[in-house]
Amino acid sequence: MSDERAKLVRRFTAQRGCDTMLSGIRPASVREQLAVIGKTAAEDAVPDFYGEGGPVEELEGRVAGLLGTEAAVFFPTGTMAQQIALRYGAELTGRDGVGLHPLSHPVLHERDAHVLLAGLRTVRTTDAPRNPIAAEVAALDEPIGTLMLELPLRDAGFVLPEWDELTAVVTAARERGARVHLDGARLWESTVHLAHPLAAVAALADSTYVSFYKSLNGHSGAALAGDAELVRYARAWRHRHGGNLFQQWPAALAALAGLTHELPRLPRYVAHAKVVAAALATLPGARVYPERPHTHQFRLWLPHPADALNEAALALAEEEQAWFVGGWRDTEVPGVALAEVTVAGPALELDADQVVGLADRFLRRLPR
Ligand SMILES: Cc1ncc(COP(=O)(O)O)c(C=O)c1O
Repeated sequence: MSDERAKLVRRFTAQRGCDTMLSGIRPASVREQLAVIGKTAAEDAVPDFYGEGGPVEELEGRVAGLLGTEAAVFFPTGTMAQQIALRYGAELTGRDGVGLHPLSHPVLHERDAHVLLAGLRTVRTTDAPRNPIAAEVAALDEPIGTLMLELPLRDAGFVLPEWDELTAVVTAARERGARVHLDGARLWESTVHLAHPLAAVAALADSTYVSFYKSLNGHSGAALAGDAELVRYARAWRHRHGGNLFQQWPAALAALAGLTHELPRLPRYVAHAKVVAAALATLPGARVYPERPHTHQFRLWLPHPADALNEAALALAEEEQAWFVGGWRDTEVPGVALAEVTVAGPALELDADQVVGLADRFLRRLPR
């Protein structure tokens, strides 16, 4: 087993043994995941055939219904779905520039796929750690076929615009003749801060991508939603990209389970994240951002090296069956590390005092 794999297995095992959890959820075993799929499948469900019919079609219909779009198409990954949405924008407008944030997923995490595979160019929208505002889009000095907005912008701290800012930046894009695509990997929980339902948000855009395995706890997979023409095009290019799997019903069933059970719970997580963030901000030397989180996720900094924090989290889990926060990484400030906190089901059981109590037990494990 590689070192990386061994670390993952150690963390998985430690988290499964915990009866208290602040960040994230207790990870499910393969058998537990199979049980969820089994319970979700209708008695007479028939598998899909290359994505046609079965739970995949049911899922596509459910997503189109939630987002209020004409159609939706299932994708094995969001990476693939978004390249196709952006390529479509370039074909329709004749412009290969895509308005992207330097912290967006395609720019940071996809090895230049949109450039190398779809022949697109990045036009940086803003260097500010938030989605671009209308004035920035109006001032771009290059044409763009599509403006992509990431709701929330994960690598800036899961930050969302205000509703008026969002509608204004969409208008600014349209005035430049650009289409609008939403990276909605975490759109499900964004409706609370935006104070508008999913369909109202998606109605602002020409295409919206949503993910099934982040806040919804599915296996994998994504959907691209928009008008029927976009979805027809996306199905053709999904095939070209090698994304037409023979059967995708396991991922679709896990996604359907997430929509039924987890989606309605997200607003409670978002509300509780404000309580958790305020409690964590009182720790010695801690910073949280946003101070009032926009979703159920936010960033936490502590004045310790990442290795020590990761080791303390594992030791606390293994010895006291309590999970604090993991995934620490060092920042450019020496001795200060950063982690993303996810307030989900298990954290609802912890009030502010219990959060601080758990944090104290965690901090006591750090070398002095
Ligand atoms: C904001 C955002 N966009 C796109 C993706 C891509 O999703 P996938 O892993 O399904 O390719 C991710 C995945 O982490 C993401 O966080």
